[in-house]
Amino acid sequence: MGLSMQDLFQRRIFFVSHVTVENLKIVYQTQQEESFLVAVEDINLSFEKGEFVTIVGPSGCGKSSLLLAIDGLIQPAEGRILVNGKGVTGPGPDRAMVFQEFALLPWRSVLRNVRFGMELQRWKDEDLDERSRKYIRLVGLEGFENYHPHQLSGGMRQRVGIARALAVNPEILLMDEPFGALDANTREEMGEELLKIWNQEKKTALFVTHSIDEAVFLADSVVIMSKGPGRVKEVLKIDLPRPRKTDLRDTERFTEYRRYIRALFRKEDTNPAGEEKNA
Ligand SMILES: Nc1ncnc2c1ncn2[C@@H]1O[C@H](COP(=O)(O)OP(=O)(O)OP(=O)(O)O)[C@@H](O)[C@H]1O
Ligand SMILES: [Mg+2]
Repeated sequence: MGLSMQDLFQRRIFFVSHVTVENLKIVYQTQQEESFLVAVEDINLSFEKGEFVTIVGPSGCGKSSLLLAIDGLIQPAEGRILVNGKGVTGPGPDRAMVFQEFALLPWRSVLRNVRFGMELQRWKDEDLDERSRKYIRLVGLEGFENYHPHQLSGGMRQRVGIARALAVNPEILLMDEPFGALDANTREEMGEELLKIWNQEKKTALFVTHSIDEAVFLADSVVIMSKGPGRVKEVLKIDLPRPRKTDLRDTERFTEYRRYIRALFRKEDTNPAGEEKNA
């Protein structure tokens, strides 16, 4: 059976990887001079455009370091990171990070916090207030444009962080435990909403979490890391239907994935902190 050019083109688009991590090694200098700590090594990963990837592993295994390297904020000691086949040498407008600690400017309103990312990137030819409002609506914060961070709940602040990251229109959204400070219910709701937004905005998402439950719920693939120094233990494809609603968590297949990942951790006695709560 012959394939048309269009078939080939589509297949190629599908298989070309969006983010590639090759033989990555990250080394930090420690307090004592001439002493080094290998945070991660031999990391090889490849993610497709539009894929939702979650990363789990014990505290200190190098999850944040991996994200920082992909963002271009730290330089690898060895190996390289490619985005659309091009080597990453520093931060760029194609990537945006959402941090756990919200990283909002306390003296700026919600609207002006969302604007801030675009201001940093010196956006010009667009109405930044209008664009900020659009993303504030998207994350469900319409009506709170003029509030300041201290007047918002943790979940609302996190939404502002997500709106700010989305407003700069990155191809890749990097999220480092964005829901870590939220209570279990809010966290589940935020997870569902994040999936809705991700589906609309078609971003590649890399999401670090300590919750195996959250990792399975969100992901197309879960990267499971081990410690000392951090390596990739397994990349597990999550074959669950979308759109995903919270009752998916009660299904046998979901439980099976969760059990499998937990067993991987237990083998090494590297149960990720906080997982008990979510089990
Ligand atoms: N700036 C730094 N200088 C020196 N060592 C660092 C630095 N940042 C991280 N490390 C070390 O690198 C290792 C990996 O840290 P990293 O923050 O990437 O882990 P993590 O998996 O994100 O942990 P957690 O789950 O606790 O957030 C740890 O041993 C940590 O002490
Ligand atoms: Mg971390």
